[in-house]
Amino acid sequence: MFTIRTYNHISPLGLQSLPEHTFSISEQYETPDALLLRSHTLTESDCTANLLAIARAGAGTNNVPIEHCSKQGIVVFNTPGANANAVKELVITALLLGCRGIAEGMHYVQQLDREENDADFAQQVEANKKAFKGVELKGKTLGVVGLGAIGASVASSGLDLGMNVIGFDPAISVDAAWRLPSSVTRMESLESLLQHADFITLHVPALPQTIGLLNAATLAKVKPGAVVVNFARGEIVDNHALLDAIEQGVISKYIHDFPAPELQQRDKVISMPHLGASTIEAEQNCAVMAAEQLREFLALGNITNSVNFPSTALPPSTGHRITLCNHNVPGVLSNVLSILADHQINVSDMINKSRDNIAYNILDTECIVEQDVLDAIVELDAVMKVRYLDASYE
Ligand SMILES: NC(=O)c1ccc[n+]([C@@H]2O[C@H](COP(=O)([O-])OP(=O)(O)OC[C@H]3O[C@@H](n4cnc5c(N)ncnc54)[C@H](O)[C@@H]3O)[C@@H](O)[C@H]2O)c1
Repeated sequence: MFTIRTYNHISPLGLQSLPEHTFSISEQYETPDALLLRSHTLTESDCTANLLAIARAGAGTNNVPIEHCSKQGIVVFNTPGANANAVKELVITALLLGCRGIAEGMHYVQQLDREENDADFAQQVEANKKAFKGVELKGKTLGVVGLGAIGASVASSGLDLGMNVIGFDPAISVDAAWRLPSSVTRMESLESLLQHADFITLHVPALPQTIGLLNAATLAKVKPGAVVVNFARGEIVDNHALLDAIEQGVISKYIHDFPAPELQQRDKVISMPHLGASTIEAEQNCAVMAAEQLREFLALGNITNSVNFPSTALPPSTGHRITLCNHNVPGVLSNVLSILADHQINVSDMINKSRDNIAYNILDTECIVEQDVLDAIVELDAVMKVRYLDASYE
């Protein structure tokens, strides 16, 4: 039985992925095998001695002490892409808000005088609606900065809306490149994207290299009249430079998810209260993905979507399995294999992967591995954690 401590409310749909006969879940466990959480901030002291894994139902992991976990051999998972559809749908909303005076027109109707008679009221509505006239998205150029899970999905929707889609991502992953429709034009630089896009949408993480990505210098390259949409992170845009660009008519509207005092009460700024991933489905998707990854790791040792361990998976072959993680130095695996050989334990299948300073191994053996053998392995220099699993788990 594996014990899992939860923090925050985890969608019941996610918890259903952890069957009761193998996983016991509680908010009370003091020394659990794993933690499952959303936004709760963990400290190093929450990572108790026997902790094996932490699953964060969400993309960011800045609420988890990753470096400490890596040193302790604790696997940290996140759920990349689980909220991509929620963000994409809001970005489409933002594009529509950007091309027509929808928000402004709704606000105008709200503040019309109720005391007017019907005819006067209808006349007021008609007389002023021209102020909210816009353009259509069809035929315009959408520039997507960052072509990961969300960016690729936004790019596809842009094509569906009849837009020309251009994208920039200097570090696109192979998986993301496969997901990207072939009709998205890849730009060689941010500047060339900014020069051509009528709508610019940002989908990059907040990293030292992306903070202030849209600043006075880059905004100077923007096609005049462009709309900027930001559902990535507030820090990616220099708000003061952006307000200057609006003032100069270079940017016609800024629609974003990250309110800041300087952006309040601005005509051409539409702010949302960080609604990007706020859907029931996104929360469920994150919980299901986090729970499934935890189940696969605790029961079978397989690792998918870890932020500090290499992706490692081996279909169970014999029903007997050892997993071990060690510092990524030469000779560890051969020492482990010789301990197994000394105990007449044959290995029928294995996988060994590394990432930065961590190596992770799954070995299927032809018989049960007793505790004294595991003790001998964990005594080896550089070995952090070793587990024996009954890998006949269903
Ligand atoms: N508004 C919200 O509530 C909300 C919700 C979810 C995610 N987000 C934000 O959206 C971001 C993107 O999410 P995702 O799931 O698509 O992430 P992802 O990791 O799948 O994709 C990010 C992409 O950005 C690219 N990139 C990195 N630096 C770049 C640069 N300088 N220029 C161009 N591309 C660059 C990467 O190569 C990667 O392909 C997240 O990092 C997060 O900050 C916001």
